[in-house]
Amino acid sequence: MSTIETVVDLIYLLAAALFVMGLHLMNSPATARKGSQFSVVGMVLAICATLAYLIDQGGGSATGWAVLAVGFVVGSLIGLRSADKVKMTDIPQLVSIFNAVGGGAAALVALTDFVHDKNLHLATIAPTPAVATALDVLIGAVTFTGSIIAAGKLQGLISGSPIILPGSKIINSLLTIAGLGSAAFLFTGAANTNVLIILLVAALLFGVTLVLPIGGADMPVVISLLNAFTGTAVAMAGFVINSSALIIAGALVGASGTILTKLMADAMNRSIPNIMIGGFGQGDAAAAGAVTSSGNIKQVSADDAAIQLAYANKVIFVPGYGLAAAQAQRELKDLAQLLEDRNIEVIFAIHPVAGRMPGHMNVLLAEVDVPYPQLYEMEAANLEFPTADVALVIGANDVINPAARRPGNAISGMPILDVDKAKNVIVIKRSMGQGYAGIDNELYLDEKTSMFFADGKKGLAQISSAVRELVTD
Ligand code: TAP
Repeated sequence: MSTIETVVDLIYLLAAALFVMGLHLMNSPATARKGSQFSVVGMVLAICATLAYLIDQGGGSATGWAVLAVGFVVGSLIGLRSADKVKMTDIPQLVSIFNAVGGGAAALVALTDFVHDKNLHLATIAPTPAVATALDVLIGAVTFTGSIIAAGKLQGLISGSPIILPGSKIINSLLTIAGLGSAAFLFTGAANTNVLIILLVAALLFGVTLVLPIGGADMPVVISLLNAFTGTAVAMAGFVINSSALIIAGALVGASGTILTKLMADAMNRSIPNIMIGGFGQGDAAAAGAVTSSGNIKQVSADDAAIQLAYANKVIFVPGYGLAAAQAQRELKDLAQLLEDRNIEVIFAIHPVAGRMPGHMNVLLAEVDVPYPQLYEMEAANLEFPTADVALVIGANDVINPAARRPGNAISGMPILDVDKAKNVIVIKRSMGQGYAGIDNELYLDEKTSMFFADGKKGLAQISSAVRELVTD
């Protein structure tokens, strides 16, 4: 091993250490920014080391370097622009697109390697190089098309509800047999291009048929599962081209994505195989208790809501996706402060899948410096609702829908925030519109619930000014 190779390996090791430290720091909102910076430094080091290695090997044609440079510039510009412009509520779509790019790139690495070395002997660190190539194509291609479908669903370009194709079970069985059969054939080291093409096509189609039937409240689990797939495909690409940096980075993404998938599935009370088979996310709106009549709805004005809040002893704020859509976190914090100034106990109940990305509510509330001890995770919050005078719901719907306690609908079995156990409930939202899972919410008809129909930001500002007027009266 030459000196430069040793130095490059040491830099990869340092980059890997920075990735691990970065992930660790991301455990807490207080250190997450630093964690992100550690990971950026690790990635820059890994890229520089790889370039140094390429130069040292004297590798690459002028065309190759030109393609690399153009790819680097175009990719960086797209990445910078999307990170800068994308709205917080659109991050899940962006993550899905990044998953697609990562999975697709990993599969291309294996395909290119196969074309250049049909004997499948390039890699030296994988036990059987052919295994890494076949798995890389399989997982990378499934991730590519699956993530594109997921992004389309999240963006509303494809229906967010489960889409069941006619004969889907037979199609899936055939694709599974074709994909696993051709992968097994390649495992033997037989470098057959036709078999590789069958594997690629079966995996691409399987990505589509895997994600189409999943929908509604199960989407968060799918996104993190595809994220885990991306990491695994990248690790396989590392085995294919003998790159320890890719193996480590891919393994970290694969492992953390798998842990997140498990946490999300547990939070939704789902099993991952059930979600993938597509049994959940489907359901009957009628079984959810369709809210067809608006006759029983009790509406309140900002003044009424302010009186209920200002004379309470304990208030629980329940933020949901509508808080993010309205960007009303500052107004929510202001209202909390006003109530605390009146010696009212205020806490925030956070459901694990509230909003559109893991930790969405935590990020919004951290932005406006809500102290962490005031944020109660679902189980802890559910112990508090029976002693709360008012639960103030801001743009949350599915995560408080009592229909989850009944079988036969899209959110059956999902643990919810027990908002209906509070003495009074005030809901701020713009209409009787449904949540992400597309089912009605009978909580809005409950006799203890008052609806304040308003945009989250404006509604909260109106309630705050009504509370201020009460104080000055
Ligand atoms: P949702 O069930 O999506 O309900 C949000 C509600 O906010 C809507 O009913 C909407 O009603 C209201 N809203 C929208 N814009 C508003 C605004 N400007 N002001 C006030 N209200 C507004 O939200 P949730 O309870 O947070 O549940 C999250 C759902 O998303 C779950 O089903 C979850 O599985 C899914 N999901 C979550 C994630 C992650 S990782 N968190 C990712 C993908 C999907 P109006 O239109 O009547 O105002």
